[in-house]
Amino acid sequence: MEECVQPSAEERSRREFLANLIMGIGVTLGVGSLFMRFFQYLYPVVEPVKLVEVLAAKTSDIPSGAVHFVQLAEGPVMIQNVGGQLHALSAICTHMGCIVKWHPELNEFICPCHRGVYGIDGNNISGPPPRPMGKLAIKVRDGNVYVMIPAQKVQT
Ligand code: FES
Repeated sequence: MEECVQPSAEERSRREFLANLIMGIGVTLGVGSLFMRFFQYLYPVVEPVKLVEVLAAKTSDIPSGAVHFVQLAEGPVMIQNVGGQLHALSAICTHMGCIVKWHPELNEFICPCHRGVYGIDGNNISGPPPRPMGKLAIKVRDGNVYVMIPAQKVQT
């Protein structure tokens, strides 16, 4: 007949301590992992968009008050000269993607597809377009106007 040996109180205390320690570490890692996922959800890491300069026009092509249409390989662009300040807008209508046209007599961009109307600043005025024309950053250097296009859109 075997004799059952009971662990001493000191040994039981040590085992309980180790079990609690392992459980505590597990709970801490689990909760920490959940918090980390939660913060990644709230503050996702977004890769910055790399922009590439694409030569669009010469500054001499766009006198003050003019709107110059350029068909780039990456898409149609309107470059405007408003009081000596150059601005670029995507000429793609925000409704369904038609190409808007500049109407100097009305001082408006009008989309021929469903008669969407935009102001000179590119803000939608009337018709179906849901939002303003896309604004594009530009750089002017050595008499040339460069439109900043996301690198993934640039044709090589
Ligand atoms: Fe321009 Fe519809 S596509 S208004």
